[in-house]
Amino acid sequence: MKNLIDKLHQENFLSAEEFHRLLANRSQEDEEYARNLANQVRQQVHGNKIYVRGLIEFTNYCKNDCFYCGIRRSNREAQRYRLTEEDIMTCCAEGYELGFRTFVLQGGEDPFFTDEKIVHLIQEIKKKYPDCALTLSIGEKSEESYRAFREAGADRYLLRHETADPRHYRRLHPYEMSCEHRKNCLRTLKKLGFQTGAGFMVGSPLQTIDDLVEDFLFLKDLDPEMVGIGPFIPHKDTPFAEERRGGLEDTLFYLALLRLMLPYVLLPATTALGTIHPKGREMGVLSGANVVMPNLSPVSVRKKYMLYDGKICTGDESAQCRSCLSGRMQQIGCEIVTDRGDYKKK
Ligand code: 5AD
Ligand code: FES
Repeated sequence: MKNLIDKLHQENFLSAEEFHRLLANRSQEDEEYARNLANQVRQQVHGNKIYVRGLIEFTNYCKNDCFYCGIRRSNREAQRYRLTEEDIMTCCAEGYELGFRTFVLQGGEDPFFTDEKIVHLIQEIKKKYPDCALTLSIGEKSEESYRAFREAGADRYLLRHETADPRHYRRLHPYEMSCEHRKNCLRTLKKLGFQTGAGFMVGSPLQTIDDLVEDFLFLKDLDPEMVGIGPFIPHKDTPFAEERRGGLEDTLFYLALLRLMLPYVLLPATTALGTIHPKGREMGVLSGANVVMPNLSPVSVRKKYMLYDGKICTGDESAQCRSCLSGRMQQIGCEIVTDRGDYKKK
């Protein structure tokens, strides 16, 4: 399979048939080969620099009911919370002091936060921190809403597509959601000039190799500035409580393939990856990832933003994810940089 990995490296593309062959037949040795190659590409494109994003989980109310997610609306066990605008500004102030120049506002799809409220928040943050990038991760909205957020000054938007295959999508989401709508949201975001992030879960229930091939082809076609992937991890109060979690080796291999296919992409080593292995994020970086997203949410709410069981960085000892990650990155010869870390194509 090395020839296919080389081809992906050189041409940044494989056909559906080639992706299928690679995903179905790769050996451990092939995985290692791809990871090393992707690590080299990461170094060529980004040197030893790792970008940081300060993640602010500002609401865990959600009107959706995704079968995998711990904050789905049907989960009566979830203790719901919303941060106030003041709380959020305090998170930003602390983050700014710590050297963050990107803030990510992430939340469930919470109708309490109307477009007006979001626009106001964006304006406040951009006014106070004009040198910072602002990323939103608040789900599916209308084109008008996205446009209003963009005009208010938001720079980036994260919206994982979750799975590019409509049949698989149906099995992860209730009927009121659709794969096509989600993909359209992503295309709209791109059109409006957001640096746009898509992505999928690795090893979500009933995922097949064909689904993954679709994910890669969709990402190639969309050409997003950012891609977020991480292992699926079951949450005890969801319909998928008894399902198997996604694999570590699989996640690292797909990170590597993404780096080879989209050399300039901003690719985080995710918290979910850090949750399934104590060195997961380090391994992610050594497989091609170049972004980490430490948690900036107030420690008092972190345990409530439980998308999956066992999530790291939710205890009192995790107050300073920023310094924890600096140390971790240094240990593998990388350096966290204080910089907006915008997408750059050379
Ligand atoms: N395991 C792993 N990732 C999850 N997400 C949601 N629930 C889970 C889970 N159980 C991911 C989704 C979502 C992102 C914010 O978190 O991909 O887009
Ligand atoms: Fe959060 Fe290490 S990154 S405690």
